[in-house]
Amino acid sequence: MQSVETESNPLMEGLQVRRTPEPCVLAIFGASGDLTKRKIFPALYALAMRDLLPEQFAIVGVARTEQETADFVSAMKEAVRSYARDEFRAEVWGRLAARTRYLAAEFADEEGEDRVARCLTELDGEYGTRGNRVYYLAVPPAAMPKLIEELGERRTTTGWTRLIVEKPFGRDSVTARELNELLARNFTEDEVFRIDHYLGKDTVQNLLALRFANGIFEPVWNRQFIDHVQVTVAESIGIERRSAFYEESGAIRDVFQNHLLQLVALTAMEPPIDFTAEAVRNEKLKVLKALSTPSPRSVVRGQYGPGFIEGERVPGYREEEGVAPDSTTETFVAARLQVDNWRWADTPFYVRTGKRLPRRETTIAIQFKRVPHTLFEDTSELRPNLLIVHIQPNEGVSLAIGAKVPGEGMRVRTVHMDFLYGGAFRTGLPEAYERLILDAMLGDATLFTRADEIEEQWALVDAIVAAWRRDKPSFPNHAAGTWGPQTSEELIGWHR
Ligand code: BG6
Repeated sequence: MQSVETESNPLMEGLQVRRTPEPCVLAIFGASGDLTKRKIFPALYALAMRDLLPEQFAIVGVARTEQETADFVSAMKEAVRSYARDEFRAEVWGRLAARTRYLAAEFADEEGEDRVARCLTELDGEYGTRGNRVYYLAVPPAAMPKLIEELGERRTTTGWTRLIVEKPFGRDSVTARELNELLARNFTEDEVFRIDHYLGKDTVQNLLALRFANGIFEPVWNRQFIDHVQVTVAESIGIERRSAFYEESGAIRDVFQNHLLQLVALTAMEPPIDFTAEAVRNEKLKVLKALSTPSPRSVVRGQYGPGFIEGERVPGYREEEGVAPDSTTETFVAARLQVDNWRWADTPFYVRTGKRLPRRETTIAIQFKRVPHTLFEDTSELRPNLLIVHIQPNEGVSLAIGAKVPGEGMRVRTVHMDFLYGGAFRTGLPEAYERLILDAMLGDATLFTRADEIEEQWALVDAIVAAWRRDKPSFPNHAAGTWGPQTSEELIGWHR
């Protein structure tokens, strides 16, 4: 790992000190977009607050929008005030603001790239950043190829280069492979950091801690003891002015292909030999390869109609601005997946994701088999043991077990043992982007998706989508604020 134990100060016992990255410039392409405002700058601010950024560091935002550095800096200041998890401290912001530049340039244009290159060299001179570059590619898919080529051609000879590539990473196997090949022609795999921000979430990493830092779970983590697994990525929000993107992508490309399959991979993988990028990703890849194509009856797609979320009336998907009135884009997917290997044979992984579901909830629920023989007189209120990893909200882990109801006789019912992050650690959880930006600066790709993983994920999605082309769905098929179409309930009685 990238961290070292502190030894000298006894008060710091048990705390980890993260390595500080080497001097570098972070160049954000697509800097006028929402991501820069909502995620990247708030994350940089949190890192600055904790002194995790290098002393010799500078940021340049690049986008087509014409504006001066001062305008960009003041917009980012507002963004930090609105979206950062920490209180606003002028002194912390001042340090970051002083190192931030903005450049209006076309990504795919020689002249624009010349100016970016000149600006980066200037920053090297000013901040001692030694030609080290982190390029953050938050640009629309169409602009990506040319930009990658330009950056590849203009790599510095003095320092290192790292490339953070935002999703969407292609829209099917073919386009993802093309993008991977283009990256491989210009960069080495260990220079490429493909974002799946779910991997940056502490609670997702905690799944690995739960499995591999405890002796009690791994022996039962298999088909002999586990009845099935349920993975839910539910959102109550709609598409939030992203209709152009969402119409093209739908739930399967937006969340299923990446976040959801990564959660399945982390849940099902074998213990890696160590916590390094190659070892962890090798094991995830094996799971992705073992996922068989589900039969059409094992996949349910849905689209929400008008309904109510927390008592508020919300429009149906087809009524959202920018959505075609007869759109067949799915906003919900549920599937019964099968990991065809020794550990998981015949143990279904039920997964679902959707927009405008009753609440925001990401969970991994492991349902264990029932005891083979019942001893007690009344077990009508006893459910099977259920281990739930709450990724968000109410971050933590809970375990449902049977306990005797006080009083006469032997009535047994289900109770819960809960671990809540907030209570146990008394500290806020970092945002995923903090961890990911820092790891990319450190050159640690453990929490980023490798080329072959992405291609496997797309292969599964391609097969599902190909089956969908055969018939036209009758949408909408569930009301906003409900848990998806009835047919998804027929796949399984979902854990609520
Ligand atoms: C993004 C999707 O990747 O993940 C969004 O494009 C979705 O549609 C978001 O809302 C969910 O992320 P989080 O961290 O809010 O669960």
